Amino acid sequence: MTTFGLFPTPLQTFELGADRPPLLVKREDLCGVGFGGNKVRKLRALLTDARARGASTVLTWGGPQSNHCALTAVAGRMAGFDVELFFIGDRPPHVVGNQRVDHLLGARLHFPGVRGEDEMWLAMQARADELRARGEIPYLVPLGGSSAIGALTYIDAVGEVVTQVGRARLPHRMVVAAGSLGTLAGIIAGTWVHDVPTQVVGVSVLHGADEARKRVDALLEEMLPHVGVSRRDNYVLDDGRLGGGYGVPTEAGRAAAALAASRFGLMLEQTYTAKAFAGLLAGIDDGANTEAPILYWHTGGTGGFFAENPT
Ligand SMILES: Cc1ncc(COP(=O)(O)O)c(C=O)c1O
Repeated sequence: MTTFGLFPTPLQTFELGADRPPLLVKREDLCGVGFGGNKVRKLRALLTDARARGASTVLTWGGPQSNHCALTAVAGRMAGFDVELFFIGDRPPHVVGNQRVDHLLGARLHFPGVRGEDEMWLAMQARADELRARGEIPYLVPLGGSSAIGALTYIDAVGEVVTQVGRARLPHRMVVAAGSLGTLAGIIAGTWVHDVPTQVVGVSVLHGADEARKRVDALLEEMLPHVGVSRRDNYVLDDGRLGGGYGVPTEAGRAAAALAASRFGLMLEQTYTAKAFAGLLAGIDDGANTEAPILYWHTGGTGGFFAENPT
């Protein structure tokens, strides 16, 4: 199995302004596979598991502009698998953004016409049964690659941060976009394993805070046997950036993206990374704790960026 990608990912330092903490940005978007992003670490582990199980075809699902689906197409094909992708909603009239990637990689695309998590999973299972009947071995990847296997890969990402900044300069807070929640869960577990006294903020882009917390706790519970340290309650869910819901841009997100691009050269899209950056900016306690940096996880989304309506 090839271990694709460029790791450790770079870490950049910027100044947010007087009486504000330095800003560290962990560039998961620059990890060297496709257009990059947080799914690549997860896919390295998931595809290794798929290979160990003798799988021939990898199946997963998401929205039509899913970064996870596009990266599964890239990484899956690089690793020698057939890839089948299941999308919520109707087939889009134009092939743009991440759908271009899905087409380029020759992934088989399904639009089963259902929306819910359970129905999407059932549609994938029905296809998996068809493949099994033909003697193939399918491997089903959950939404966002957020199983324990996927999420555990973020423990190493936190280890990279510790090495890159040094123990004397650890961030007092880390902020990340939280959708299917595996990245957040992995980062939280990473702070436990690497003994990082940091608050982790998951800026929810999909669920309300209570539902997100329930799901992240369940995932952490599943991961715990592999983590080997006891848990700490050092994380919060911020659902104040959700606005009209998943994929609906907000004014704060647009302003955050404009600031990140013009001040720091960071390109953020509106579904995940701009809302997370808006959460980071809103959470800065001006004047307080200006010595210890604040860390933003740039989780990618570049494919989706190019499918957005700029207005
Ligand atoms: C660009 C980007 N950022 C953040 C996330 C959220 O990660 P997770 O699903 O692990 O919560 C995703 C997930 O699709 C994503 O594509």
